[in-house]
Amino acid sequence: MAEQVKHSAADSKTADQETNPDVKNSDVKLAKRPAITTYDARLIRQRPHLFPPEIIRDRDFRRMVLRDNFPLPADDYREGYHVGSDASYWLNGLECYLKTLNVIEKYELEISDMLDFGCASGRVTRHFRCQMDDVQVWAADINPKHIDWLSAHFPRNPKAIAVNETPGIAIADNSLDFISAYSVFTHIDETETGWLAEMRRVLRPGGMAYFTVHNEDTWRAMSDLDPANRLVASMLRREGFTLERLQQPMPVGKTAYYFADEGAYRAQVFHSNCYLREVWSQFFTIHEILPCEQQRQSVVIMTK
Ligand SMILES: C[S@@+](CC[C@H](N)C(=O)[O-])C[C@H]1O[C@@H](n2cnc3c(N)ncnc32)[C@H](O)[C@@H]1O
Repeated sequence: MAEQVKHSAADSKTADQETNPDVKNSDVKLAKRPAITTYDARLIRQRPHLFPPEIIRDRDFRRMVLRDNFPLPADDYREGYHVGSDASYWLNGLECYLKTLNVIEKYELEISDMLDFGCASGRVTRHFRCQMDDVQVWAADINPKHIDWLSAHFPRNPKAIAVNETPGIAIADNSLDFISAYSVFTHIDETETGWLAEMRRVLRPGGMAYFTVHNEDTWRAMSDLDPANRLVASMLRREGFTLERLQQPMPVGKTAYYFADEGAYRAQVFHSNCYLREVWSQFFTIHEILPCEQQRQSVVIMTK
């Protein structure tokens, strides 16, 4: 396979990797040449619509940039996120991570082991790896190219594991404190309850699941979007779906809009809050559903 790696500023092996090759990044060294430069990061931060300042709180932004000196994936490994701009891609992942961290802190959850389910090439996963101390991250995806990329460029932490369409993951029962899934249950249709059961199995009692969904709030937000928007465009690819449909209420229950004929990843799935409270609460205790929290996707905060 061609080398699909981008080093915008970092070179091959990092000081952190060389001196601390083991799991759990307890002794993070600040990078001399981080994944993005502090200059790029500053430029983007000056555009608050790209990086809302309120999510940083009292955290040291410069230090966050310097904690990550791993390579960035090439555009075709980004699942469409911020193609063509390394700094926006990195910051967008950081934003998702910080919003999640704010919830973790609010619930006072201690995390030692966690999973990012449907991680792709680690847009958000890398920030858990780089920004948190003493955390072993697991990262799972159905697409082997992402798993190969993560294994090649993030040795040991995260531990990248491939899954297939049939629910099942090689992680022990009750072993994780936290599971995130960004824009993954938004694409899983028939196997949804199987995967919820599997996530419940690996989460420890009291552990937290942070899963994003398309719900009524997403639907309403979509009605104002440009037809060129990625989500709207994929819906319009479905025969018979029109922009006018978005002006009407979202269907109750779970609805999958298929935008391709084959593959595990070929539907946009919408869940009404009522469905989540009826079906997902058979697997977890739902605490909150945060409307449009993550890029118009709402977040379901749950514990086992
Ligand atoms: C929209 S991307 C989101 C990627 C990543 N979570 C992020 O936010 O950058 C959806 C990801 O979910 C993965 N995926 C889809 N169905 C899956 C499944 N059943 N199990 C694991 N991963 C899945 C896809 O391969 C893809 O990497």
